[in-house]
Amino acid sequence: MGTYKRKNIQKHGILFLILSFLLAISYLLTKQRVASFVSEKPVITGLIIFTFLTSLFFVVSIAIRYKRLLSELKHTELLASDVREEKYTFANDINTKTPVIDSINRAIINVAESKKNQLSQLCQRTEQLNEMNTELNDAYMQLESSYGQLEAVMDQLNESEKRYHSLVVNIPDIVLSLDSSGNITYANRACREILKFRRHDIVGKPFQYIIHPSANEKFDLVNLKQNIEKNGNHHIHIPLCKKDGSLILTEIKFTEAIESPEMNFIQAIIRDVTEQKRIEKVMVETNARLKIINSLNHKLASTTEQSDIYRLCVNSITKEMGFLGCMYLGADKNDRHYKIMDHSGEYFRQPGKLEQFYNIRCSSTLFTGKNSEGIVLERDMLFQYFSLSEANPNQEAGFSKAFIQELRSYGEMDGMLIVLSKSSFIQEEIDALRSIGHSTAVAVEKTTHLIESKNNFVKTIDALVAAIEARDQYTRGHSQRVSALAVKIAYRFGMSKQQVEELRIAGILHDIGKVGISDSILLKKGSLTNDEYEEIKKHPGISNKILHSIGLSERILKAVAFHHEHFDGGGYPFGLTNESLGYEPQIIAVADAFDAMTSLRPYKKPMSWQMAVYELERCKGSQFHPDIVDVMVKMLMEENPI
Ligand SMILES: [Fe+2]
Repeated sequence: MGTYKRKNIQKHGILFLILSFLLAISYLLTKQRVASFVSEKPVITGLIIFTFLTSLFFVVSIAIRYKRLLSELKHTELLASDVREEKYTFANDINTKTPVIDSINRAIINVAESKKNQLSQLCQRTEQLNEMNTELNDAYMQLESSYGQLEAVMDQLNESEKRYHSLVVNIPDIVLSLDSSGNITYANRACREILKFRRHDIVGKPFQYIIHPSANEKFDLVNLKQNIEKNGNHHIHIPLCKKDGSLILTEIKFTEAIESPEMNFIQAIIRDVTEQKRIEKVMVETNARLKIINSLNHKLASTTEQSDIYRLCVNSITKEMGFLGCMYLGADKNDRHYKIMDHSGEYFRQPGKLEQFYNIRCSSTLFTGKNSEGIVLERDMLFQYFSLSEANPNQEAGFSKAFIQELRSYGEMDGMLIVLSKSSFIQEEIDALRSIGHSTAVAVEKTTHLIESKNNFVKTIDALVAAIEARDQYTRGHSQRVSALAVKIAYRFGMSKQQVEELRIAGILHDIGKVGISDSILLKKGSLTNDEYEEIKKHPGISNKILHSIGLSERILKAVAFHHEHFDGGGYPFGLTNESLGYEPQIIAVADAFDAMTSLRPYKKPMSWQMAVYELERCKGSQFHPDIVDVMVKMLMEENPI
């Protein structure tokens, strides 16, 4: 605006100089040519000329201004055109010499700028709208895709629901739903098949309705809910009641129903385990019987006394298997009647019951064909078949069935097992009894064989020892006496039957090695030389060589081989001490020494038992075991009271 005013002042200055110049010229012209008029009326003339020139100046000035105005309007038109065609740039110079035009231009530019701004905002808004439209399109596509997926999921859910429903309906277990009060709200098909209840029989009724009366106290709804809340489920084993009142054993799993987040419903899956429990019971009972048979077999294997075998057999059947009575009858070839070898059980504790079986005749007709493995008889049949006499049948703790098994040995009838039962025998019990009968018969057969072998062995040993002792009249009977003394000492020590028997044999055999010593040394009446004594000292070793191969026990072999060893290690042939000797050799040693001292020898007279006791006491703790000497002395004092 400052520039515009300065230019305007310059233009008016120029116009004032031109007007002054024209006024001067008008003055000169007036003075020269129109001198007359001017001379006459110089003022008027001057005014006319001034007016004329002034008008001329304004006309020229207006013409110039008009032309400039047109030019600026033209520029304004171009500006408007540029604005209209959106070619205008704000870098263009919009300044004009005409304020109005300048104002118009600025207004146009302002409008243009406003329009441009609006256009820019519009474009920006359009762009935003386009972006939103794109997003909306994407969202729509996603929605369409999600809807497709939702439809697929819904299809799957429908399919799963069908399967679940089919599963629940057809599952062999009973499925029940209970409401929060424990009332049954749903029951599947298995409920009718297992419990025989139709749905309308139990739906709406409390769960206790199907629990067997004997187990009502086992079901507690409050406890059930607490357990489900705490653990997610609750298991119980409880008997249920069928529609006809009979009982089935069940295993029930209670869980919170899936559609019941607030535990308004409980789901119960009930499995009939009656058969499973029955099988388990049978297995437990079978296992128990197998344990009894196994235990009996172990005991029978380590028993050599037939009386113990009979006792083990009848006790296993009554005390461990729980039968009312058991009797083991033995057959004797020389007797037509069975002999009662042993019996056990409540039945035979009643007066007169054992006597019923005293005179059973041996007969094999009962055990032919399918009965060869044993037969079950009714009580009356048993009495009739064996001609048993009735003994107060109304007062007895009676039996209703009897299992009878023939026992054979070496292919011949050897005995009979009778088992009495209050109730029927089940097959598993019969099988167990047969097994026990067979095991017992085998054990009896084995011990019979053992007894025969033992008797033959003893006879052989006796003959052998007698042959040795026949060489020397002075030692005749020495081995038998040593054996008898050793047995007495062993009994005093409380040794087992087996140990006593072993000591009896060891006593007889202790000097059997002297068979390898020449008569010139063994029967020499004078003193022995050192070499001869060394030869004598070989007899325990020779005994061991002779006996080692005939299968005698380790204790017998040790007792024979070490009977000249001393308590303190001063004996022969090895110089062993008490720690490694054990009792058996030292018992033989004491008995041997006592008999030798109290017997006649070619080189000495027999010593009195008191002197022998003195010698034993003197050598106690060195040659002899103190405890054995004490027992021996005490025994002699008792047998020879003063
Ligand atoms: Fe000896």
